[in-house]
Amino acid sequence: MVKNENSFSGQIGFVLAAAGSAVGVGNLWRFPYLAAKDGGGLFLLVYFGLVVTFGFSLLTSDIAIGRRTGKSAIGAYGQMRPKWRFLGILTFLVPVLIMTYYAVIGGWITRYAVVYLTGQTNAAAQDGYFTAFITSSLSPVIYALVFMAVTALIVYKGIQGGIERVSRYLMPALLLLVIFIALYCLTLRHTDPAGQTQTGIAGFLYYITPHFEGLTVGRFLQILSDAMSQLFFSLSVSMGIMITYGSYVKPEVNLSRSVSQIEFFDSGVALLAGGMIIPAVFVFSGTEGMDAGPGLMFAALPKVFAEMGKAGTVIGFLFFVTAIFATLTSCISVLESITANCMEIFHTGRKKTVLILSGIYLAASAVIALGYSVFYFEVRLPNGSVGQLLDIADYVSNNVMMPLIALLSSILIGWIAKPDFVIEEMERSGHPFRRKGLYRVMIRYIVPVMMFILFLQSTGILS
Ligand code: PHE
Repeated sequence: MVKNENSFSGQIGFVLAAAGSAVGVGNLWRFPYLAAKDGGGLFLLVYFGLVVTFGFSLLTSDIAIGRRTGKSAIGAYGQMRPKWRFLGILTFLVPVLIMTYYAVIGGWITRYAVVYLTGQTNAAAQDGYFTAFITSSLSPVIYALVFMAVTALIVYKGIQGGIERVSRYLMPALLLLVIFIALYCLTLRHTDPAGQTQTGIAGFLYYITPHFEGLTVGRFLQILSDAMSQLFFSLSVSMGIMITYGSYVKPEVNLSRSVSQIEFFDSGVALLAGGMIIPAVFVFSGTEGMDAGPGLMFAALPKVFAEMGKAGTVIGFLFFVTAIFATLTSCISVLESITANCMEIFHTGRKKTVLILSGIYLAASAVIALGYSVFYFEVRLPNGSVGQLLDIADYVSNNVMMPLIALLSSILIGWIAKPDFVIEEMERSGHPFRRKGLYRVMIRYIVPVMMFILFLQSTGILS
């Protein structure tokens, strides 16, 4: 019993929990929008190429280090080389930062699910609806606090009783929902006032066809860098979360196969999400509709749902429920990783740690939720966009810290601790580690070089 409280029950429980962390708004909203912007099938090719090389190497490293040391980021890197404890602290800071705003986004999504549940489909499609919501000073705070509280409650219940149990229900349900909505979107057909008919199938073909028109070296590098940062975010790597989850995996579990399954689940949901969103937007707004960018989820999609008529209310509701599941399981993993590090550092129990952290993050979520009203200000970010509190926290964690952490950890593993530190762990259960050769080359040479370039680029040093 006591032993069970410190680990996942087995491979399936672990894979679903890890996939729960990986599958989030990144898959449902960011991936489709990048695919539409970056040449459809061309982006898909680049992205999936990176998944099986970079994604594989980083995910393998995190999980194996977690299981081998049995610790979270700070303790794990400290155990590998005491001088590298700083890398653990840096890694720990990523979820610390992400946690301040993730429940806020979860709150926005929950609010939209309520909007469709109560049939306000047309109201949600009005220009300015989203802005009016997030700039109000009460309701975004309440939704954020509720989302944060639910997350805390699940983490409070522990690894098997909380995290694994929730993931076992929500992840299969999420998969079914995405498949259902994607199939529905393929059947869409709409004739605009000018007599032009668009179909979901045509939208789907637009999505998967590689568009090479106007491809230059510069544009290709842009696509590559978009795909790379999407990959980190999507797989939840280089932020210590997978180290924490890895530390809960029993020795007999086949890690190599688990890594493949997590990659497959995460990429599959991203692919299907594109298959639901792109055809839907294409049918009602054509290819221009896709330029909505970050506003896709809360501005462009509600318009599409309103166009669908009655079915739109149902599909809209199902879509946002899917998004709640995705966001909740990710939010749980962020809080779990912070909790696990704190428990190790302060030698406190789970319940006490979660209670204290909940207090801190309820307050932080409220502040961030007010970042569009009471605490509004604008900052120009190195990539040229203008951001508020939430965007700053997001930019620093994703674009600056994560490439830096991947760079430093690949140096630590590739050159100081040596790749065998990870490879031995991958083979410990007696199962073969098939991509061993690839892993060695990636972690020693290719990951450090690419991460260095990505880091220079996203901090604005390169441009
Ligand atoms: N991986 C999640 C996604 O794809 C995002 C996430 C980021 C989750 C950071 C946890 C921590 O949306």
